[in-house]
Amino acid sequence: MDDITLARALHVLAVIHWIGGLAFVALIVLPLAQARSTASEGLELFATIERRFAAQVRVSIPLVGATGLWMTYRLDFWDRFLDPAYWWMSAMLGLWLFFMLMIFVLEPLLHGHFERKARSDPASALRRMSQLHASLLSLAAITALGAVAGAHGFNFF
Ligand code: HEM
Repeated sequence: MDDITLARALHVLAVIHWIGGLAFVALIVLPLAQARSTASEGLELFATIERRFAAQVRVSIPLVGATGLWMTYRLDFWDRFLDPAYWWMSAMLGLWLFFMLMIFVLEPLLHGHFERKARSDPASALRRMSQLHASLLSLAAITALGAVAGAHGFNFF
């Protein structure tokens, strides 16, 4: 197995962990949390699961980026970022940058602020979290569909 194939395999494995976990939180955990008898109980359930998942994606998200950038460098795909036919390359990079910013910069910086706000109004915090996770999951699904189709020869334009 050459380095590009290894990078591709690790890339997809890390994407499965990260986006699969996002789907689990958006489609299973948050609806269950919202169905709890009190919003603060629901928020506690969500926060406990999200904390564990957040610790794990601190490994899988950087791995997606490192392997993706390695493939881009080795295959000399840089000009794809300027070509609209390869929109899915920019979508991958944009989604990754957003999550990196969230988990390594904004969340640690604003953790106390988010927690205080959520405690003061747990019902709307859960609602906002559900909307955010559903939107991110939709973007991730479109990106993954575009990436698999595009990487296997489908021409979007
Ligand atoms: C820094 C961010 C990223 C970079 C630079 C990057 C780069 C790449 C490259 C160069 C390829 C190979 C394309 C080809 O063979 O034509 C690829 C494939 C792929 N990427 Fe990414 N990627 C990144 C993030 C993501 C994210 C966030 C997702 C998930 C939503 C993702 C999902 C995929 C998938 C599913 C494939 C197709 C694998 C295959 O079927 O061969 N990537 N990526």
